[in-house]
Amino acid sequence: MKQTVMLKVDAQQPDSETIRVAADIIRKGGLVAFPTETVYGLGADAVNPDAVLKLFEAKKRPLDNPPIVHVANVGDVYRLAEQVTPEADMLMRTFWPGPLTLVFKRSAAVTDATVAGLGTIAVRMPQHAVALALIRESRCPIAAPSANLAGKPSPTSAKHVFEDLNGRIDAILDGGPTLIGVESTVLDLSGEPPLVLRPGGTPFEALRRVLGDVKLHPFVAAEKELPIEKARSPGMKHKHYAPKAQVIVVEGAVPAVRVKVKELAESYRLKGFKVGVLATDETLAAYEADEVKSLGSRFNLAVVAQNLFRLLREFDAEGVDVIIAEGVPSEELGLAVMNRLRKASGYNIVKAA
Ligand code: TXA
Ligand code: MG
Repeated sequence: MKQTVMLKVDAQQPDSETIRVAADIIRKGGLVAFPTETVYGLGADAVNPDAVLKLFEAKKRPLDNPPIVHVANVGDVYRLAEQVTPEADMLMRTFWPGPLTLVFKRSAAVTDATVAGLGTIAVRMPQHAVALALIRESRCPIAAPSANLAGKPSPTSAKHVFEDLNGRIDAILDGGPTLIGVESTVLDLSGEPPLVLRPGGTPFEALRRVLGDVKLHPFVAAEKELPIEKARSPGMKHKHYAPKAQVIVVEGAVPAVRVKVKELAESYRLKGFKVGVLATDETLAAYEADEVKSLGSRFNLAVVAQNLFRLLREFDAEGVDVIIAEGVPSEELGLAVMNRLRKASGYNIVKAA
């Protein structure tokens, strides 16, 4: 199997020759992983059906779950979407470039492979100099799912991409760790009212401030597996973000959570399991386990989001069997963090009281 090429690049001012090398690969139908402000994406020419099919193969992703199409200018949206409403236009002007993906009814110009046969298309403009330079130099919109093997936590560094996809893709643009750490918010504009299908880097609170009416899909804050029929976004029904270890999320008021996490850690260790605790700065000192890690302060949910996927991967590398994770407040970026943690646990949620 071919070796994947690592291309180091400055995150703020990417060297144009390096970008040209990567764009050449995209134009020839190859696969290049690249940093965005959220997580690393695995890019392919969005208007080349063969290239898009290779994305699914490399990631071992189910064929019914389409990637997000990344653009570097708003003009492309008018070609990909059947209609751009004044509301959509306002959202693009307010939040782009940035971690907000918009789902539109697709135009006739979009091929079936790009959208897995759906009648809609998901588009975003990333806020990252490397991503934008790559799209511009490739002269095509770039289809890019997160650059992890299907089901694994999304990659927040080039090293994570390499661990999952070395030998399966052509190149990785290494622009250092990503800033936001969780994926973009997916907002469905194809029906009324706009519906958040996946919470992410753009807080729901920010959308509510500018939209008259916007709702969270029931799946977003679900505490158990919902029936598949209810899923409007195909990604919802697939297993996600799961490290190898079994994850247990402990939710509730901090003092009660502290007691419950201690109790669980102790009982799993007594049974002979290697136990990891995913704590916060405020509670870290209270725990004894094989590995205890902090997501950051409970009062800085942006930092918690930044650290989440990296720490889940670290526990895996350390061979932890069970990860006991503290819940954090479901506000601002905490909503995305809790959505990912709950999914990673397979909805193994313990309410501490
Ligand atoms: O931050 C991000 O969004 C990252 C970076 C690389 O941009 N990308 C990302 O892509 O997370 P991916 O493929 O891992 O997740 C895309 C999500 C999936 O949940 C998928 O089901 C949903 O977007 N999606 C894609 N097309 C859709 C559509 N037409 N309608 C509804 N949901 C769609
Ligand atoms: Mg993904």
